[in-house]
Amino acid sequence: MDFNAEDASIFESALSDDSSRPKVYIETYGCQMNVNDSEVVASILIANGYAITSNINEADVILINTCSIRENAETRVFGRIDLFGQVKKSKPSVLVGVLGCMAERLKDQLLEEKKVVDLVVGPDAYRELPVLLRAAEDGQKGINVLLSREETYADISPVRLDKNGVSAFVSIMRGCNNMCSYCVVPYTRGAERSRDPHTIVREVQELVDAGYREVTLLGQNVNSYHWEEQKGLVKQKISFSDLLEMVALVDPRLRVRFSTSHPKDLTNEVLYTMAMYENICNHIHLPVQSGSTRILQLMNRKYTREDYLDRIKAIRSIIPDCSISTDIIAGFCTETEVDHDMTLSIMREVGFDFAYMFKYSERPNTKAARQLKDDVPEEVKTRRLMEIIELQGKLSEQSKKNDVGKRFEVLIEGESKKSKDEFFGRTSQNKVVVFPKENHKIGEFVFVEVTDCTPATLIGHIVEE
Ligand code: 5AD
Ligand code: SF4
Repeated sequence: MDFNAEDASIFESALSDDSSRPKVYIETYGCQMNVNDSEVVASILIANGYAITSNINEADVILINTCSIRENAETRVFGRIDLFGQVKKSKPSVLVGVLGCMAERLKDQLLEEKKVVDLVVGPDAYRELPVLLRAAEDGQKGINVLLSREETYADISPVRLDKNGVSAFVSIMRGCNNMCSYCVVPYTRGAERSRDPHTIVREVQELVDAGYREVTLLGQNVNSYHWEEQKGLVKQKISFSDLLEMVALVDPRLRVRFSTSHPKDLTNEVLYTMAMYENICNHIHLPVQSGSTRILQLMNRKYTREDYLDRIKAIRSIIPDCSISTDIIAGFCTETEVDHDMTLSIMREVGFDFAYMFKYSERPNTKAARQLKDDVPEEVKTRRLMEIIELQGKLSEQSKKNDVGKRFEVLIEGESKKSKDEFFGRTSQNKVVVFPKENHKIGEFVFVEVTDCTPATLIGHIVEE
């Protein structure tokens, strides 16, 4: 998943002009799924008489949607909760709620140790928020961390909080059944369930009608999406590639992305669907985690180094101009220098265009925490991570250099942070390009010739098609 657990995105306001409504401030940590969940939460609250604000000081309710994936993600959230305590001191009527993965994992600790917390609500219980908020207003602690086998919030159209009006996330499934030994997600987000494809297509159509130009279909493991429905006497099965096709057909001018793919489930069928539809972007996020088959086995990833490389070969042959990004964990239990070297070598062999790189962080109660020893010393983990980051820096730079001199269709997403005279957008391959505005607008597609690059960005100018 395009992911930065360490980065909070604080949403801008939606519907905050009605002054009679109690105001809710939502802060989001973690993956894109959490970002989308906050939009579902906003939609539920707005339908129940609340308004959303981006100003914490005018909030009547402060919600923090949290991530448990690594220890430092949780540490940061604890820091924020303490800060909310200070806000509450100056305005005691404010309600503070913890949502998401930490709510699920740490409910008791949050309620016992953090007196400021009035509400603890897990990822499958957001429909209960209005009821829990009312109870909290009456001085009761509101808690619901029940996980569900069915909840997909299928009927809820998320309120888009990010204001860009160009690209949106659409959840197609929830939970995870993979049981990677290091990962807390199956415990915090529960079992995998797919969302009714007709509600997905309807939501995508609504986005198109509202002027959106790009959707990213989200799930922990999108390739295991499946839906069955009775069509007369026959049972119809809808796979991820079927769904991808249904979404691509909503509008040929809508870009379609998806994340995250699991190497064990990425079928050629999906690759052929990507190749067939121009509007499905040529980018695959395919977390490798490690280049050593022994470590992959301990991680319970269910593929070998060779299997992963086989998938890369398939991508390269079916979609020659596809970019590939990945996630890597440094210093998993028992990892030796040889294993680490295998991670570096698979990075070189694939030539990843981009990577999210992490130090292994033991999560309580996961299979790895129960059965394996977190035995790679901290300084070794740090050094290995630095080597991985350094190598990826070179690979990312090379990937950008390869684009210099080429032309790409780019979706204009916003104004460049550095200059008011420039836009930024992304190529189909998900690389950011900065270029002079000329007479164009956000949300338009333009052709850009790349003339230069920095390690992080392509630089170019608009050209005629
Ligand atoms: N420690 C470090 N990184 C982790 N990830 C998941 N769990 C852990 C953990 N316990 C990383 C994986 C995953 C990404 C979302 O986060 O690389 O793909
Ligand atoms: Fe973090 Fe995973 Fe929860 Fe997303 S699902 S917020 S990555 S723990």
